[in-house]
Amino acid sequence: MLKSDQTIAANTELVKGVSIYLCDLDTDSDIPLSFAQSLLSPSEHARAKRFHFERDQKRFIRGRGFLRYHLSKRTGIPAGQIHLEEGERGKPFCPERQIHFNLSHSRNIAVLALSPSAPIGIDIEFIDRKVDVHGLSRTCFNASECAVLSSLTGDDLHRRFFAFWTAKEARMKLTGEGMSLAPKSISLALENGRPVGYLLPEHPTATLNFVELPIPGMVCCTATLSQQ
Ligand SMILES: CC(C)(COP(=O)(O)OP(=O)(O)OC[C@H]1O[C@@H](n2cnc3c(N)ncnc32)[C@H](O)[C@@H]1OP(=O)(O)O)[C@@H](O)C(=O)NCCC(=O)NCCS
Repeated sequence: MLKSDQTIAANTELVKGVSIYLCDLDTDSDIPLSFAQSLLSPSEHARAKRFHFERDQKRFIRGRGFLRYHLSKRTGIPAGQIHLEEGERGKPFCPERQIHFNLSHSRNIAVLALSPSAPIGIDIEFIDRKVDVHGLSRTCFNASECAVLSSLTGDDLHRRFFAFWTAKEARMKLTGEGMSLAPKSISLALENGRPVGYLLPEHPTATLNFVELPIPGMVCCTATLSQQ
């Protein structure tokens, strides 16, 4: 039993059966490095050796170990024997079992969303990440989204910017389309300026949920297929 076994107390409206797990990639507190290393496949061991910086190598090892550990617990397949493949745009999946998952990482934090029944996308960001908020808004957000941001300043602006950003990234990651789904082609449904759903693309229809993580200054959003 690892500390990272604890499911995050997610919003109650999160789709039934979805679990969210959290891992600190820089310490042994959630998954010890040596344990994570013992779970990796030969190709992941080879990939780990290619990292130039030790910190990035350790983050990769813990991140993959964390993923394999949870997939193994869910599927019963020994962690090292889980076969992972990547979709056309790089979304990893497990072909042998009906288990859906998606990962996101930012700095030392990784989150894993596991869904037994349908695809899922997840994205996290720290709101103090240095970005050109106004420039990126013009490139990625549509007129109504930009109008909301232009009425905000300081922390409120950054928090809302990353709420929009993670909502769009989660939608890109849901289907695995990634950046081939242009950010402006994803239109957010807004209520009092807050994202509450997706207007576009219409197919497949998707639901967004923000997840409260016990990490100050972090925004986390999931996108799941809407129940028909
Ligand atoms: C995958 C993508 C969508 C997000 O990447 P990101 O936000 O930089 O990184 P995250 O940590 O959230 O996600 C990376 C993980 O998602 C998974 N992933 C990779 N490609 C994916 C895809 N096409 N779909 C879903 N998941 C994917 C992988 O597990 C990856 O981690 P790994 O390489 O350690 O296995 C990427 O296509 C991207 O480049 N985004 C560009 C950022 C941008 O401009 N966004 C505009 C937002 S409005």
